[in-house]
Amino acid sequence: MKEQFVTDLNVKDDVDSFFLVKHIAVMEAKDGKNYLNVVLADSTGDLESRKWHNAQEVADVVTRGDYVRATGKINHFQGRLQLIIQTISKIDHREIDKSDFTPKSTSNADLMMEELLKYVADLDDVYIRDLLQIILFDTDIARRLKCWYAGKNIHHAYESGLLEHILSCTRLAAHLSSVYKVNHNYVIAGAVLHDLCKIYELSEGPLVDYTDEGKLIGHLIKASEIVDHFASKIRGFPASIKVHLKHIIISHHGEIEYGSPKVPQTAEAYLVHLIDMMDSKMNSVAKAISTDRTIGRWTGMIKHLDCVLYKHELPTHTEYLPEPESKVPNVQKSSEVRGNAGDKAPEKMSEKNEAHERPEGKSKTKPEKKKDGALTYTMARMLEGLKENQSSDEE
Ligand SMILES: [Fe+2]
Ligand SMILES: [Fe+2]
Repeated sequence: MKEQFVTDLNVKDDVDSFFLVKHIAVMEAKDGKNYLNVVLADSTGDLESRKWHNAQEVADVVTRGDYVRATGKINHFQGRLQLIIQTISKIDHREIDKSDFTPKSTSNADLMMEELLKYVADLDDVYIRDLLQIILFDTDIARRLKCWYAGKNIHHAYESGLLEHILSCTRLAAHLSSVYKVNHNYVIAGAVLHDLCKIYELSEGPLVDYTDEGKLIGHLIKASEIVDHFASKIRGFPASIKVHLKHIIISHHGEIEYGSPKVPQTAEAYLVHLIDMMDSKMNSVAKAISTDRTIGRWTGMIKHLDCVLYKHELPTHTEYLPEPESKVPNVQKSSEVRGNAGDKAPEKMSEKNEAHERPEGKSKTKPEKKKDGALTYTMARMLEGLKENQSSDEE
């Protein structure tokens, strides 16, 4: 049974655990010697690894997709954790529980499917509603959709990630269609269908790869074929609906250089493209922040987002910050207006001020809630200001 997971590892930790090999290659170092570049993984993340000795011997035996037992020590390299492998050997897949190596959506697949079908049932275009229903009720499509990954690495790259992405896009579609006053039937259909054919483009997880059909046809064209196939089962399905649905699907990557043969040319198609980009980027950002192991407030460089990200929560102040003591000229007088605040021990007050000056704006202790506190404090400051103005006028 696996006890040590990637997410729990820290610098200098000794490692002895089971992993899935996601990548393995013999590389040549600057001094001409061979070393092994390996990515090991489990359900909690990936672990970059190196083996400096016997690289070729290991590569001859261990391949991508194998389950291995690896021992070694965690190192810190260029801001990232890295395992220096001492030993690595293949293990029988019957010895392991595959769920230990499969990252999963935090949402339940059956509930997500239920919610998705509810959006579809509520559509008012009967042809689009019927089309989406016969597609989503297809046994093979439904089975795949409930567990498929949305990608190899970049966004929603975990079990049921594709369904999570499609549902999230559908929620946005329902809301944003009314904000922008566009036809919600098409935007919701676009959200449901745009990436659906990743179930044919990608292989089943946890070791996701592009299938031959994925490489040769791709999920945009395949989804366009699916529309033709299932629409042909609905008597009198209007040709114009098919054209618009297929346009939304094939243009959802937004630009020709990103694989769309056409750029979006209807408001509905444009919105589907933006929704898809929003949801995929926000998932990438959340994943990058939650899995980053760089020490400090910033992530390391996130290649696919081309930036580093701020990892800490942003500050929220539900009450005004107290001014430092030195800036309030007459503490005794203002405390009369502020009531009990002036009764606090001086060291307590300065501790409070210090806490508010922290960079993340988080205070050590929760500020005491006081009814009308902000108002009375503001009044005190106004009175002090008034007095100051009066005395300067008198001068
Ligand atoms: Fe796509
Ligand atoms: Fe997508």
